[in-house]
Amino acid sequence: MTAWTPDSWRAKPVKQLPNYPDALGIKRVETELARRPPLVFAGEVKRLKRQLANVATGQAFLLQGGDCAESFKEFSAETVRDTFRVLLQMAVVMTFASAKPVVKVGRIAGQFAKPRSADTEVIDGVELPSYRGDSINDMAFTSEARVPNPERLLRAYDQAAATLNLLRALASGGYADLHNVHQWTLDFLDGSPAGERYAAYAARITEALAFMRACGVTPDAAPSLEGVDFFTSHEGLHLPFEEALTRMEHTTGRWYATSAHLMWIGDRTRQPDGAHVEYMRGIENPVGLKCGPTLDPDELIRLIDILNPRDEAGRLVLYVRMGSDKVGEGLPPLVRKVREEGRNVVWACDPMHGNTIKAANGYKTRPFERVLGELRSFIEIVRAEGAEPGGVHFEMTGQDVTECVGGAGHLSEADLSSRYHTHCDPRLNADQALEMAFQIAEALKPTEGMRRAAE
Ligand code: TRP
Ligand code: MN
Repeated sequence: MTAWTPDSWRAKPVKQLPNYPDALGIKRVETELARRPPLVFAGEVKRLKRQLANVATGQAFLLQGGDCAESFKEFSAETVRDTFRVLLQMAVVMTFASAKPVVKVGRIAGQFAKPRSADTEVIDGVELPSYRGDSINDMAFTSEARVPNPERLLRAYDQAAATLNLLRALASGGYADLHNVHQWTLDFLDGSPAGERYAAYAARITEALAFMRACGVTPDAAPSLEGVDFFTSHEGLHLPFEEALTRMEHTTGRWYATSAHLMWIGDRTRQPDGAHVEYMRGIENPVGLKCGPTLDPDELIRLIDILNPRDEAGRLVLYVRMGSDKVGEGLPPLVRKVREEGRNVVWACDPMHGNTIKAANGYKTRPFERVLGELRSFIEIVRAEGAEPGGVHFEMTGQDVTECVGGAGHLSEADLSSRYHTHCDPRLNADQALEMAFQIAEALKPTEGMRRAAE
């Protein structure tokens, strides 16, 4: 293998990058980004890697979620806070039920670039470049809107920086204090089955905290009660952007991607000799690999050899995204092979991307039951093969949207048109996401406490 540098990917075949007609403009923006401060820091990245190492051995669980695609238009303090607070609710349910720490990772503060199945889109005989995410072009179907505009990368950086600033404040400024467990409930969850179940949990947790306090476990004695570690992630798709934010840690000479703590490689860009794999192999961050139904076991091992040659714990997360109908056939050979070869990985489940369908009325949707079905099969299969089901990856939002059908709220296809706001794929709404957390908690380890709270 040749030497790695932040730009060595440029010598490899690259997929899914936009064509910038303004060649000077993109160079100028890359130079500008390279001068900007890092968004995340090496110490934080190492901390996430240590936590993921615990996930690999089954001592912790990974919860990752957020929008399919973040947008410039929908950006506000409220949307960020609401996504964060649903993740907190999910985490608290899962922590309480499984008695294992939950590693919290947002799909947020940088999830702007989207892979597309075709470079162009034709509507009524008009052919224009495909929408590739807000950091690249605009969704409106006009030629001005669809031209990739490099300046958008700067706006994406600014929004990511503002989002991270808010997330850091929410994570450590008091909001995420376990004593606030009741306050994270969203108004529209009042009276919903998931909302009621959550209230029962929150009451038990508050009771436990009071007991612990009486025993001397005060926030002073246990500062971890007062906040959370919260990490960011996105698909590492736009390599010029990522390259500009790749920085060397001077004390070690090692390279870190500083646009997010964790990045993953999509199912469409995981060619072993391609540019995306080349870029990811050289950074120190934990990296993810999406594993779709066409990935064969030998190719997976080849990718693991490239991405994690030192077999470092917490470095590699494999996100299974096969679909509820394909996971039973596709997953066992992968887990078996990785185990036979003795590789250290985190097995996680992305139950969203293999379960997208078109509703009769034309909306892209995901049936809650299929999402849950893939998740349950994943847990069963990984366990049966003697490995640890370590985590989940959801497309979800804290907003009360109507994008996925089913769940305890019984959202139907006819309901989809009422609040269908996604910029890309359908997301679980807050109610559905919370319900998913209960289901995971149950599948992972039904404890006495769980059963009591469910009564
Ligand atoms: N810091 C601990 C943790 O992250 C406990 C904690 C504090 C917590 N606030 C939380 C857990 C909110 C879940 C949700 O696990
Ligand atoms: Mn998606």
